[in-house]
Amino acid sequence: MTTELQAKSHCSMSTTSPIKRKRYAVVGVGGRARMFTYPICETYQQSAELVGLCDVNQGRLAYAQRDLQGRFDCPALPLFSDAEFSQMIEQTRPDVVIVCTVDCYHHQYIIRAMEMGCDVITEKPITTDADKCNQIIDAIERTDRQLFVAFNYRWGAGPTMVHQQLASGVIGQILHVDMEYMLNTSHGADYFRRWHREKEKSGGLMVHKSTHHFDLVNWWINAIPQTVFAMGRLAFYGKDNANRRGIHVTADRYTGQDNTDDPFALDLTADDDLKQLYLDNEKYDGYQRDRNVFAADIDIEDSMSVLVRYNSGTVLNYSLNCYLPCEGINVVFNGSKGRLEFSEMHVPDEDVPPSINPLSQKTKVIPRLTIRPHFAKPYDIPIDVNTGGHGGSDPLIQQQLFAADPPVDLHARVAGYQQGIASALIGIAANTCFKSGQPVDIPMLCPDLPRVGGLSDLI
Ligand SMILES: NC(=O)c1ccc[n+]([C@@H]2O[C@H](COP(=O)([O-])OP(=O)(O)OC[C@H]3O[C@@H](n4cnc5c(N)ncnc54)[C@H](O)[C@@H]3O)[C@@H](O)[C@H]2O)c1
Repeated sequence: MTTELQAKSHCSMSTTSPIKRKRYAVVGVGGRARMFTYPICETYQQSAELVGLCDVNQGRLAYAQRDLQGRFDCPALPLFSDAEFSQMIEQTRPDVVIVCTVDCYHHQYIIRAMEMGCDVITEKPITTDADKCNQIIDAIERTDRQLFVAFNYRWGAGPTMVHQQLASGVIGQILHVDMEYMLNTSHGADYFRRWHREKEKSGGLMVHKSTHHFDLVNWWINAIPQTVFAMGRLAFYGKDNANRRGIHVTADRYTGQDNTDDPFALDLTADDDLKQLYLDNEKYDGYQRDRNVFAADIDIEDSMSVLVRYNSGTVLNYSLNCYLPCEGINVVFNGSKGRLEFSEMHVPDEDVPPSINPLSQKTKVIPRLTIRPHFAKPYDIPIDVNTGGHGGSDPLIQQQLFAADPPVDLHARVAGYQQGIASALIGIAANTCFKSGQPVDIPMLCPDLPRVGGLSDLI
């Protein structure tokens, strides 16, 4: 379904720009794609231009088009189905393809785009299993193209300050890391309504979500993960757990039901954007975004513990739980000269009026960083939180990706395929371990990872 192929000019700006704009095509135009399409069409229109959109769902493609035109008054873009991805590249000649689809399909678009001469920016996780990781490494070696992973979490003020402090050597050599990530009954529950609840599609939260956290640790301690041991289970969501607690599920989805007093309900008709993005387009692919979090067919975990040994000898002790009354991160680094403690809680932003869609409720981050040196008084390091999506990290990564002359990144936050693969492999190894009960050596899953060298090599 190629439409509007006649459209030769693209979003915004006059053709008299002195800068040659970089051309971007996007595959996967759901909620997250906007983090890329909006800044290209608005803030970075002098240096970037959107040239084509591709998705498996033609209704969502048409909505993405309407939304961009309504917001930025840009001309119609050519639209392509998933089967027309190669055709999109041939016809629109992008410099860079942005991959924003459901996770398990990332690899096929990454590889095809590179084979056709494009660089790629992919959303996290880079991919969902070891075989696909190896296919991506092979494609990079064959094509020599660049692949960036949009690890926006690195760009937050708190994580950046942690990196700066650890790199300064203030706690000496890092011997041990303890990290707890908490997802609440709003954001955390939402993974159990969507495609993320199918392991085949998302790799489970060990891959889909924890790739962010494993990437932070890999970057903070600049080491390569070697051995993983993990335990995980579905402890809260899902039919059996609900039944055990006396909750009996009568409907597969929330929209169209009487959801009075159900704190887990999501009504897609209550929010116009959710309705237009998902409900109105179910007729094209059957995808329901509001499935019951206590349904029987959920096959991912919601309570997970992982141990990782790194090539430096450092051990990470990590947990993720997704049904909590609060959300945020607690991480502690135990070093040869002291200890660094970082916490960042995500709380509702009282300065923004409550949203009818609980998922659009604006939150803010409350960070705290304490250094506890050996034989000296502990002290706090102040952190200035930035404004913008994901604790201010989205605007910074957008600037780095799309500005003509982005500021030099002093904190090595730009992430390439090595970082994408190293973090995904920890989750992939954990998934293997959930089944086997045995520790997993990462080189057994991906022999090439050690060969790509230190994780900082790319930067
Ligand atoms: N970095 C972050 O903070 C962050 C936040 C949210 C999502 N993400 C990532 O962004 C990506 C998209 O997530 P989302 O929340 O937008 O999900 P979504 O469900 O809203 O959008 C996914 C889109 O992919 C399309 N799609 C599905 N299968 C496809 C295929 N085979 N070919 C082409 N298109 C296909 C769907 O139709 C949909 O439009 C995911 O990889 C997710 O992990 C990252």
